Amino acid sequence: MKAEKINALERQRQVYVNGLSGIKPLVPVDMDKLAQKAAESISKEAYAYIATGASRELTVASNRNAFQRWEIIPRMLKNVSNRDTSTEIFSTKIQSPIVLSPVGVLEMAHKEADTAVGKAAASLGIPFIFSNQASIPMESVAKTMGDAPKCFQLYWSKSNELVASLVKRAESCGCRAIVVTLDTFLLGWRTRDLDLAFLPFMEGMGIANYTSDPVFNRLLDEPKEQALAVKPKVTLTTIEKILKLNRRYPGGFFKNIRSGRALAGVKQFVNIYSRDTLTWKDLSFLRKQTKLPIYLKGILHPNDAKMALEEGIDGLIVSNHGGRQVDGSISTLAALPKIAEVIQKQIPIIMDSGIRSGADIFKAIALGADAVGIGRPYVYGLAIAGEAGVREVLINLMADFELNMALAGCTSLEDITKDCLVSV
Ligand SMILES: Cc1cc2nc3c(=O)[nH]c(=O)nc-3n(C[C@H](O)[C@H](O)[C@H](O)COP(=O)(O)O)c2cc1C
Repeated sequence: MKAEKINALERQRQVYVNGLSGIKPLVPVDMDKLAQKAAESISKEAYAYIATGASRELTVASNRNAFQRWEIIPRMLKNVSNRDTSTEIFSTKIQSPIVLSPVGVLEMAHKEADTAVGKAAASLGIPFIFSNQASIPMESVAKTMGDAPKCFQLYWSKSNELVASLVKRAESCGCRAIVVTLDTFLLGWRTRDLDLAFLPFMEGMGIANYTSDPVFNRLLDEPKEQALAVKPKVTLTTIEKILKLNRRYPGGFFKNIRSGRALAGVKQFVNIYSRDTLTWKDLSFLRKQTKLPIYLKGILHPNDAKMALEEGIDGLIVSNHGGRQVDGSISTLAALPKIAEVIQKQIPIIMDSGIRSGADIFKAIALGADAVGIGRPYVYGLAIAGEAGVREVLINLMADFELNMALAGCTSLEDITKDCLVSV
């Protein structure tokens, strides 16, 4: 699939020309309005799940505030008429230093979920990191993306056999890297979800990569004790949710009701989805399973970056999961420079959590990132207008970055260095 080339000036002009016909952009360009419109487009549970941070949401705020501690010093008279925002990541040349971070349970934002995002990403040649918690099995999403860049994000399950199976599937469907998320071996204390007493996985959402997995299904057929630690009190809501789950779960509604498989599948998922005993030593297992590059997502400490280098890891994602895990955690922009110092360009660094504008992308690149990851903004675009909404959010960010780069006096990513910034 050939990626459409985006030109910032054309995009900007198109919006203003459309304005002459009374046509407004499909999704708000302003990121706060984007979130607000998404909130109006989906259920309050869905919006809370997407927007929430951990606990007091201090890290969500800190991710944003960190960008204000660095300011860009634009340089003048530099002839920036030839601009190149391209770079290389996951062994792929991309037109803008942006990747789509993995986001689970996209069906809560839009029924086409991961497929819509995959198509939008593919149309622009932007790499899409499939979430382990996707709403649609990775093979189906990969198929709609053709040869466009894609990766698979892994949550390390309690079952190594399941880990191996997921990784093999990712390899077979054309993923270019395995991204292991390290920061979610337990779920953060997510206030908004707790207040609504809502977790989508409990209702069978976001587990498509499990229910389509041969190892997961084989484990389900093995007799075992699978009780959830806490059993729900049966109310009308319970019955309604169980009916929905049986409808959602593969296999057919009546068959699921009769066999109890849907409920058993959710229980099994809850029991095995993550492992809190994981250590650096376990990584060698993964290395034996795949020839694909392995990226670690959730690195924030320079010593962990050093360990990753020593382990022969192929790339890092500096991330705090968009502030959804450790409340009060260091912001990613604050963590980035020390990690970049350790890495010394030996392996690529992607930074996510809080990127909302071209200037944010510029600052992350200047402080040592090779590319940035976007999370919530594309999900908001998806919630408002499906595939077209995701595309528009991405195009806006790409155009904003290109213009900001040029106006700062830079013509390529190589020009964007720490000297372009001042710490304030
Ligand atoms: C609703 C939601 C679901 C997420 N699901 C996953 C996931 O399944 N795997 C993962 O590694 N990260 C997940 N993340 C974290 C993102 O990959 C990314 O780190 C974060 O969203 C970046 O911050 P931003 O939303 O401020 O851009 C999720 C984030 C959100 C908002």
